[in-house]
Amino acid sequence: METGAVVLGQEAGRASPTTSTPRQHDLLTEGKSNEMSEDMLLAQAAAFLQAGFDTAAATLTFLIYELAYNPEAQDKLIKELNEAKEKHGDDVMEISVLSQLTYLNCVIDESLRKYPHLGWLDRIATVDYKIDDNLTIPAGTPVYVNAVGMHYDTEMYPEPDRFNPDRFLPENAGCIKPFAFLPFGEGEKIALYNVRGTFVPLWPP
Ligand code: HEM
Repeated sequence: METGAVVLGQEAGRASPTTSTPRQHDLLTEGKSNEMSEDMLLAQAAAFLQAGFDTAAATLTFLIYELAYNPEAQDKLIKELNEAKEKHGDDVMEISVLSQLTYLNCVIDESLRKYPHLGWLDRIATVDYKIDDNLTIPAGTPVYVNAVGMHYDTEMYPEPDRFNPDRFLPENAGCIKPFAFLPFGEGEKIALYNVRGTFVPLWPP
């Protein structure tokens, strides 16, 4: 291995890079070898910091702002957290516990619905894409997906200006159509991380 280069995937005990798709592999290694250059490594670290710091901080800021105006939701959340603390006996709860707390995750989702960080997702059609008989998107066309518009669609989110974490309770999940909740994006370009503590596996795929 060259000085200043990192062999992808192996330190973390993951599968060898040869198991990943050629596209991801070439993007990270510039198509040369299994090694990542120092510049590429730094660029990834900078991107993680930029993409991960402000998004997480702003999500918590809006969440706390909404809880201040919605004491009922705040009380419900405190109750759930106290019960979890009693059950697990820890002052600092592990992400594995927090990610299982239903109401906490509803509060986070409702904050992300009202205040998505990217109001839209952008893509470019790689092939002609037929929507229906009247509309085909020609290859090369930029496409903007109106995420914030969907987050305020009254068909799925009645009284959209109201902070109502209950809309995300498991029993209400059926009211929200697939792809109508897009705080982390969707598909191949989805955020690397979501606040429920799950890393989206970009490497290996
Ligand atoms: C509340 C937290 C976060 C939110 C709301 C968020 C939101 C987003 C959104 C909307 C996108 C665009 C996705 C798309 O176009 O489909 C994105 C992309 C991305 N996010 Fe996040 N993100 C969050 C946290 C993070 C964290 C913690 C990291 C890294 C440690 C991260 C890394 C990335 C990266 C690398 C991309 C680009 C993915 C690509 O283009 O392939 N994000 N994020």
